[in-house]
Amino acid sequence: METVVSGIRSTGHLHLGNYFGALRNFVAIQEQYNCYFFIADLHSLTTHPKPGDFHASVKTILAEYLAAGLDPEKSTIFVQSDVPEISELYVLLNMLAYKGELERTASFKDKVRKNPENVNAGLLTYPVLMASDILMHRANWVPVGKDQEQHLEIARVLARRFNNLYNEEVFPEPKALVFGKNLVKVPGLDGSGKMGKSEGNGIYLFEDDKAITKKVMKAVTDSGPTEPNSEKPEVIQNLFTLLSLVSTPDTVQYFDEKWNDCSIRYGDLKKQLAADICECVRPIRERIDAIYQDEDYLNRVTRMGCEKARESAAATLKLARKAVGFSR
Ligand code: TRP
Repeated sequence: METVVSGIRSTGHLHLGNYFGALRNFVAIQEQYNCYFFIADLHSLTTHPKPGDFHASVKTILAEYLAAGLDPEKSTIFVQSDVPEISELYVLLNMLAYKGELERTASFKDKVRKNPENVNAGLLTYPVLMASDILMHRANWVPVGKDQEQHLEIARVLARRFNNLYNEEVFPEPKALVFGKNLVKVPGLDGSGKMGKSEGNGIYLFEDDKAITKKVMKAVTDSGPTEPNSEKPEVIQNLFTLLSLVSTPDTVQYFDEKWNDCSIRYGDLKKQLAADICECVRPIRERIDAIYQDEDYLNRVTRMGCEKARESAAATLKLARKAVGFSR
């Protein structure tokens, strides 16, 4: 079975865009690949988060991903900082990563521009740490969005460089796992083409019916169709796209017909959409709450994940140390 590695940022919450987008694919690939999913808490140290906030944000993220379908029996789900082998591999790879190539990454340049007062070495070597995450489990595949492609390319370069320098095929070259047409793009309700955290238009899995309904009822619309069977403008198509994700085909067809004969009332459409989003989110939210309360379960998940991840990591590190010449 081939191996997939994916890191999850340690802060933030899951919204419908994540849920119907990448996450659904993560849940699906658990059946076909040996998956490692981890919370990238070491990476988050580049911005110096408050120590007191860590525990709660790791717990939250973990509860949300588990509630949404990541399965600790099928995948290895762990916390990055629980696996010290990653940091050791990071040291070895740092010796092969050149300042120039790291300075050229778009994410580095972007962060330097935004936070010129905190350009630390960890920020520069962020892609090296990410390469360690990936190569640690000798991954074949990494699910990446556009913003991470350059980082994956560095992981590929470092894998090749290591193998060449030490003349030993320790690391397979990790490839981008692209979900293609299986990656649903979820629109925002503010007329924008994408639901996202930075877009500020997310409907979150932790939110209750009231909060969700309020957001949906505020969705941007237009003044309505004037001719039968006309094409839907983007703001309206966005509502229909969301509806098609959470409602039955009958419901979508009902509103489609109302659109086509110009009798649609957006208030009704929004009410239906709100009710169906709530219906979809409610059981997930209840699972998030239950998992979050269950410290024992969360501890069991992370302990089991840590054990499995360290076993795989130790095996790789043994090969890497031997290649470098450390083993006696
Ligand atoms: N850099 C990724 C992000 O910002 C998170 C990440 C860290 C990651 N290590 C990884 C993703 C390894 C894939 C593989 O989203």
